[in-house]
Amino acid sequence: MTKTFHFYIVFILICCFSIGVFSCKSLKSDKRANKKKEPINKDLLTYDELNKEYRDLIEKIGIRNGYVIADVGASLGIDDFSLSVLTDSNSYFIQDISSEIFKKKRFKQMQNYFNSIRKTPQTNKLQYVIGNERKSCLPDSSFDLIFLFNSLHEFTYVKEMLDDLSKKLKPNGRLIVRESTSTSEKRHIIDGCYTTAFTKNEIKLLMKSSDLYFYQQLYPDSNLVNIFIFDKNHR
Ligand SMILES: C[S@@+](CC[C@H](N)C(=O)[O-])C[C@H]1O[C@@H](n2cnc3c(N)ncnc32)[C@H](O)[C@@H]1O
Repeated sequence: MTKTFHFYIVFILICCFSIGVFSCKSLKSDKRANKKKEPINKDLLTYDELNKEYRDLIEKIGIRNGYVIADVGASLGIDDFSLSVLTDSNSYFIQDISSEIFKKKRFKQMQNYFNSIRKTPQTNKLQYVIGNERKSCLPDSSFDLIFLFNSLHEFTYVKEMLDDLSKKLKPNGRLIVRESTSTSEKRHIIDGCYTTAFTKNEIKLLMKSSDLYFYQQLYPDSNLVNIFIFDKNHR
């Protein structure tokens, strides 16, 4: 009687243990499967959306094939990955001060996604560069275009950074500034960072003191966000 009783107890314990192990395993593999299925591109644009958003910018800024381009304060470099879908044979230097941003695995995932939506095989090169608060750590006299997209107002040492970037442009290179701007009547606080936006004239003066001269403004003064193009030729 006690032997049979013990046998049943042991049998029930083994069953419970096996069920436990099995359900844990399947839970884990479900989680893994879900993780694998989670699309990294869920917030990223499709080819048509990218084309709509960037085609006009490419024309207006004059991005040509074969250019060497630096995006300073690029964060994850979404603009550069996006442009790498629509341009050819360019070198994109995705630069920021935060090394946290540049994770090898994420870079690979982004590269895979953006390459996969190109119509033809990838011909652009993309690389990350980590700078510091005063220096971009980019190579001298190397860039056809340097982008400052929504990053000028974030610089702690504006003059040092602009002097540095001025040296990084090729003689005919251009610096492209995309910023929200204040007007002389109304100071604008930039969303999310409590910084006051520069006025157009303040941006022009800052650039001039680093030998960067105003060339063109892409949108009317009434636009909150504008794009200003500067070059090294004194007019
Ligand atoms: C508001 S984010 C803009 C990101 C991206 N360019 C965009 O338009 O979405 C500003 C970026 O500038 C970077 N930054 C701040 N100071 C910098 C500096 N001295 N050199 C390079 N990047 C800097 C920050 O780390 C941040 O990633």
